[in-house]
Amino acid sequence: MLDKIISEDVDSIVVRIGKIGEVLETCKILVTGGAGFLGSYVCDVLNRLGASVVCVDDLSSGKLDNIDHLLENEKFVFIRADVSNFESDEKFNYVLHMASPAVPEEYKSRPVDTMKANSVGTLNMLEIARKSDAKILFTSTSEVYGDAKILPTPETYWGNVNPIGLRSCYDEGKRFSEALIMAYIRQYGLDARIVRIFNSFGPRMRADGVYGRVVSRFIDQALSGRPITVYGTGRQTRSFCYVSDTITGIMLTLLSDRAKGEVINIGNPRETTILQLAKLVKRMTNSNSKIVFKKLPQDDPRRRVPNIRKARRLLGWRPLIKLEDGLKRTIEWFKLRKGVSTR
Ligand SMILES: NC(=O)c1ccc[n+]([C@@H]2O[C@H](COP(=O)([O-])OP(=O)(O)OC[C@H]3O[C@@H](n4cnc5c(N)ncnc54)[C@H](O)[C@@H]3O)[C@@H](O)[C@H]2O)c1
Repeated sequence: MLDKIISEDVDSIVVRIGKIGEVLETCKILVTGGAGFLGSYVCDVLNRLGASVVCVDDLSSGKLDNIDHLLENEKFVFIRADVSNFESDEKFNYVLHMASPAVPEEYKSRPVDTMKANSVGTLNMLEIARKSDAKILFTSTSEVYGDAKILPTPETYWGNVNPIGLRSCYDEGKRFSEALIMAYIRQYGLDARIVRIFNSFGPRMRADGVYGRVVSRFIDQALSGRPITVYGTGRQTRSFCYVSDTITGIMLTLLSDRAKGEVINIGNPRETTILQLAKLVKRMTNSNSKIVFKKLPQDDPRRRVPNIRKARRLLGWRPLIKLEDGLKRTIEWFKLRKGVSTR
């Protein structure tokens, strides 16, 4: 059974997509990374819209729990595979390439896998899309901007990235994918779209080990009374976008004619310091946890804020969920899930 919180999120996304989503009912769609946090929401939305979905995931950070409820569905197929070895002669109408390690601690521990998913993996997905004459969407990241000098950052900014730093496997991997996609557009006339996602959060985010992200880690620490760990002084900022807003932006980019060939920032322009977030989570969970400070990792961007004018103009999209409201839903979900095993 799909959780009530997630089910409500999926409903709201489907309503916001509106009539243009109806086209998917007769479509076959390949989703890589579909067992992950964002990918599983995409699979749920596509399933709700009546599409046939093939989900490819190696379960390196994703979980079968996220898609369990879809496995019996005749319009849903799960293939456990690594995108850097995955090829297919099946025909698809759309390809969403979302598979990649996505959390700093995770990609720093598997830098080669990260680069392969975003190079050979992207090449494989582009070939599937080209042979199928399918539209392809790629989930890139705000990290392509590195430690941005222009804030809020527009899509026209070229980035300030350390090409040999610890994060380079991810940010340069994503930059290579973007360049490869542009090459396919120019050489083969492929219909491709790129979203640059800025810190999304919500239910199904992992909180454990190297997979924990700042929001899920803080919630988990606060709910279990462990210290809330802030890196550096906590004055660095991020902009947190609730998952239903992120997925709506992804789906509108996939479906809107105006997004063809475009790169679009999807994020929430409200900037929050990490210390503010820690205090907010502590207050909202009524936690007694102490806030403790740890060493700031190498090349950690100081500020991250999207300029979302392009998404507003092309897609009519903007985030609707306030940070506090998204946190309330996420905390509720974590409370319900606490004690449930992860596999
Ligand atoms: N969540 C965010 O805030 C955010 C921000 C920027 C970009 N993104 C991008 O969005 C996409 C989804 O991220 P997410 O937050 O859902 O992360 P996630 O880790 O929950 O999901 C990624 C999924 O990809 C799978 N995967 C990883 N490498 C693979 C491979 N080689 N072959 C097959 N499957 C593989 C994992 O098992 C997982 O299910 C990623 O491409 C990520 O870079 C996410």
